[in-house]
Order: sequence, then structure tokens, then C-alpha cells
Amino acid sequence: MKEQTVCHIDDMQPGELRESVIGRISIVVCKTLDGEFYAFTNKCIHQGGPLAKGKLCGAPQSDNPGEYTFCQDGEILRCPWHGREFDVKDDGRMLANPERKLPSFPVKIENDYVIVYK
Ligand code: FES
Repeated sequence: MKEQTVCHIDDMQPGELRESVIGRISIVVCKTLDGEFYAFTNKCIHQGGPLAKGKLCGAPQSDNPGEYTFCQDGEILRCPWHGREFDVKDDGRMLANPERKLPSFPVKIENDYVIVYK
């Protein structure tokens, strides 16, 4: 199993994305607003957009027509190319098509450093 030290936990701000490489694979590391870390392929499963250049944002949710609430702030990874959205806390599942998800990588915090495994 390969591992990659990405950074110290304080080197990334909540809501920040960071590109890293493990082996030959480009990954995007996400720090959510509550300080958790997640890692996914940096290549969007739609047409390969560089996800590290996207944003961590939230998503609108609606229980009734015309009523929207904003939720999951800082937990949705939005691709910079065509705006596909992926739920980082749900294993990278695509919001519009939950059967599809981003390949993900285990993340551990060791001595306050973010380590990604492959
Ligand atoms: S390449 Fe990501 S949404 Fe199209």
C-alpha cells in the first residue's frame, strides 16, 4: 500500500481543496468546514475535469415545489468544468446520479499530518 503525506492539518483551511499525487495518480484532498479530510481522484468522472480547481460548496434541497433550503455547506465538491456535484461525506456520490461516485482514497491523520493511502 502506498502512502502520501499531503500536509499538516493546519496547512489547509476549512473548505479548501488541495491537489496531491500518490504514485502516479493525481488526487484532490478536501477539508470540510468541520475539519474532516477526504481524498478522491482529481479527474472528474464526467469528462476528466480537474476537481482540485473546483469548489467545496453546499447544495439546495427542496421538500416542496418552490421551497429551497441550502444545506451541506462545504461538503459538496463541484467540478470546475460542467458543475457536476459530488458529496464528499457520502464517498463521492454524484448528487444528480447517486449510482455514480468518484474513486476515493483512505485518509488518516497521523501526528497532525494528513496521510492518503492507495
Ligand atoms: S468534467 Fe466534471 S462536470 Fe464535466
